[in-house]
Amino acid sequence: MNRVETLLVSSPPRRWLQRFYEIRVLLRLGGRMLPGARALEIGCGTGYGSQLVLEQFCAASVDAVDLDPAMIERAARRLARYGDRVRLAQGSATDLRSALNAADDDYDAVFDFGIVHHIPNWRAAIAEVSRVLAPGGRFYFEEVTAHALARPIYQRLFDHPTDDRFTAQQFLDELANHGLVVLGSITRISGDYLLGVAAKPVSGRSGN
Ligand SMILES: C[S@@+](CC[C@H](N)C(=O)[O-])C[C@H]1O[C@@H](n2cnc3c(N)ncnc32)[C@H](O)[C@@H]1O
Repeated sequence: MNRVETLLVSSPPRRWLQRFYEIRVLLRLGGRMLPGARALEIGCGTGYGSQLVLEQFCAASVDAVDLDPAMIERAARRLARYGDRVRLAQGSATDLRSALNAADDDYDAVFDFGIVHHIPNWRAAIAEVSRVLAPGGRFYFEEVTAHALARPIYQRLFDHPTDDRFTAQQFLDELANHGLVVLGSITRISGDYLLGVAAKPVSGRSGN
């Protein structure tokens, strides 16, 4: 992530958007978590999303991973007040076994606040989400599509992988390829952004 995007994701307007728009949409589509539920946030950045997962989705605990050690340090400062309800790790969303020793079916919910489009092998991240979700668990996602990434302003300001980016439909199709069932989704700004919730069926995975 370049300097401009780092400043943007750390800014009050980003936090405002996440709290008062994205979270409300995701709660409407997928609801809160049950008492005792364990959550994972991939690409936690400064940790504000994990704070909202604890406070607004009522997760009992959150494990959070980010590739950038500087982000993990910032998240650790923000989330220190939650004590052992939070576990942070530096590592990749494409290999959660190495980062967090995450077993199959480990989490009741996984949260993705705008990170999968940063990953060159984004399909590997979806496969990991599906692997670590417990049957009945939910994947809450907010993503930036190829449509947005192709805009000149995105290309001028930010630094993203350019090959094999996804449209909203390709992202949803990849969830289905890993047996996740989309409970609801919406796109915004001519398909630039995708928000939604998918569930791992209780009967287990299909299509892997
Ligand atoms: C656009 S920021 C979003 C941060 C935060 N989720 C938010 O909404 O403010 C993308 C984050 O994903 C992280 N990231 C990029 N590739 C990653 C990967 N393979 N595994 C885990 N985190 C990754 C970056 O370091 C960055 O913190």
